[in-house]
Amino acid sequence: MMMIQGFAQTNIINVPNRETLSLNGKWNYIIDPYETGYFDYRYEPLDKDPNSGKGFFLDQHPTDKSQLLEYDFDKCPTLFVPGDWNSQDNKLLYYEGSIWYRRLFTYKKSNSNNRLFVNFGAANYETDVYLNGKKLGKHIGGFTPFTYEITSLLKEDMNSMVVKVDNKRKRDGVPTLNTDWWNYGGITRDVSIVEVQATFIADYSIQLKKGSKTEIAGYVKLNGADKSQKVKIEIPELKSITEVTTNAEGMAAISIPVKKLDLWAPENPKLYNVTVSCKTDKISEKIGFRTIETRGTDILLNGKPIFLRGICIHEENPMRGGRAYSKEDAQMLLNWVKELNGNYVRLAHYPHNENMARLADEMGILVWEETPVYWTILWENQSTYENAEQQLSDLISRDKNRASVIIWSMANETPVGEARTNFLKNMAKHARSLDSTRLISAAMEIHGNKEKPFDKIVEDPFADYVDIVNFNEYVGWYDGLPEKCDKINFVIKYNKPVMISEFGGSALQGMHGDTLTRWTEEYQENLYQHSLKMLSKIPQLRGMTPWILCDFRSPRRFLPNIQDGWNRKGLIGQNGTKKKAFFVLRDFYKQMELKYK
Ligand code: GCU
Repeated sequence: MMMIQGFAQTNIINVPNRETLSLNGKWNYIIDPYETGYFDYRYEPLDKDPNSGKGFFLDQHPTDKSQLLEYDFDKCPTLFVPGDWNSQDNKLLYYEGSIWYRRLFTYKKSNSNNRLFVNFGAANYETDVYLNGKKLGKHIGGFTPFTYEITSLLKEDMNSMVVKVDNKRKRDGVPTLNTDWWNYGGITRDVSIVEVQATFIADYSIQLKKGSKTEIAGYVKLNGADKSQKVKIEIPELKSITEVTTNAEGMAAISIPVKKLDLWAPENPKLYNVTVSCKTDKISEKIGFRTIETRGTDILLNGKPIFLRGICIHEENPMRGGRAYSKEDAQMLLNWVKELNGNYVRLAHYPHNENMARLADEMGILVWEETPVYWTILWENQSTYENAEQQLSDLISRDKNRASVIIWSMANETPVGEARTNFLKNMAKHARSLDSTRLISAAMEIHGNKEKPFDKIVEDPFADYVDIVNFNEYVGWYDGLPEKCDKINFVIKYNKPVMISEFGGSALQGMHGDTLTRWTEEYQENLYQHSLKMLSKIPQLRGMTPWILCDFRSPRRFLPNIQDGWNRKGLIGQNGTKKKAFFVLRDFYKQMELKYK
């Protein structure tokens, strides 16, 4: 785990299946654009000197009338956690800066020797966490979980958790300054207190070994003093009980021979109850087992060629106009994918909440996950690379036991160049070192050929390091009119599966007109008809994820009465109503489903 300013994060896998106290709900908050609660007037961090007696993290309350205090959480309004602040209060819609959150809670441990941790599903972007005035840590990155130990800091009576979240965009950040999605700020996912015994099961990986249908492989890792213990992995339905002994580091490799596994697939999302236990801990979850690989230009799921009938999704509930975070949000979004006859989703452009991949496991929907290495980040900046790599590690760590997740993507629409390609090569190498069972890709770009105006060339040095060649194309929207699709010739020299990670165009739901009037449903419908015909001519085509399932908020979209701060490329409008193009894609996917049956 990355150390920031001497504060260690702890990894606790599978928090949703742990005994926890939820700290979700109303938190008092203070909007602090000048970070007065964090810096003194010399711009020195107040939490550097614990005796400064200043700083909102202390959550002080005047003890006598003469005391000077210029903040008081008790008298402050509240925000809901989980949730972005932008959609909860109109004055915060465009707010980018720091907001302080404070939550009071009591907690009685069930056993005085037990340890306690606080787990955040995510908070965007830079988060400083304090308990009872003491700093727990600083986390950078808006879309991955982080956990701190609080055992020694817990008080018998009332505890004060104070969290400063700063969503200011940074040039050296990941993502960087420029994105086509809303920069939602806040504690955007669940917060929970996790109680475990002194030594507990911190991590495990349990998936089929690469290329094998008869051996489950992985590891288990203990955290605590009693590191070397017997650990059991039980899969009752397979009458499988495997015992391993962890070494002095608390690690043990797992190898479980299995016969007649009921393999996980979209048409058969079979999940097994798996329990990992040792003397001092026990944790269970549902896990599916499947193989995923490529052979030539085919993608093979459980050894059988598959076509990935997908759609891109942003982590947003369009009707709420805010970050999605709940099981219900995930259910709504993935139900729409099923209505599209889809079997695959691209979760763009950052790790979505854990509910998405877990529900995709249950519903039989394959998943592409990515980190926000998007457009023009600082390729030569070491801390930018470490930040990106850390987000990738945290994503893989969180979702490595999800059968639905088949692709780790390294980037989106990044400019070809040596520094960039080295950056992505290192990311891919890192991903493969953490997980050899899944496929690697990236959303690449195409370029033209002056001599041949209808040639679209897919040529990227990073394509040599991926398993699947994915590219974005916008012929008929940013590049000409829909009819131009009919003349396009794709030049793709890779003997690899090819997928279209984005294509599409905008329409305002309910706006109608002729097929060449932009922003009408008829234009978008026509564009999809021409695009699907154009793309179906690519011999290596093995899947696609049109841009995008739902309209979403974007700070780069200004057309009055049409965009009004929304990207309108959704197949479903802001109010949840399907546009005509939705049905064009649905019918195309029906055909592809039958073709690959
Ligand atoms: C890009 C980008 C998306 C963006 C889309 C668009 O390809 O990857 O993030 O929203 O195009 O322009 O609508």
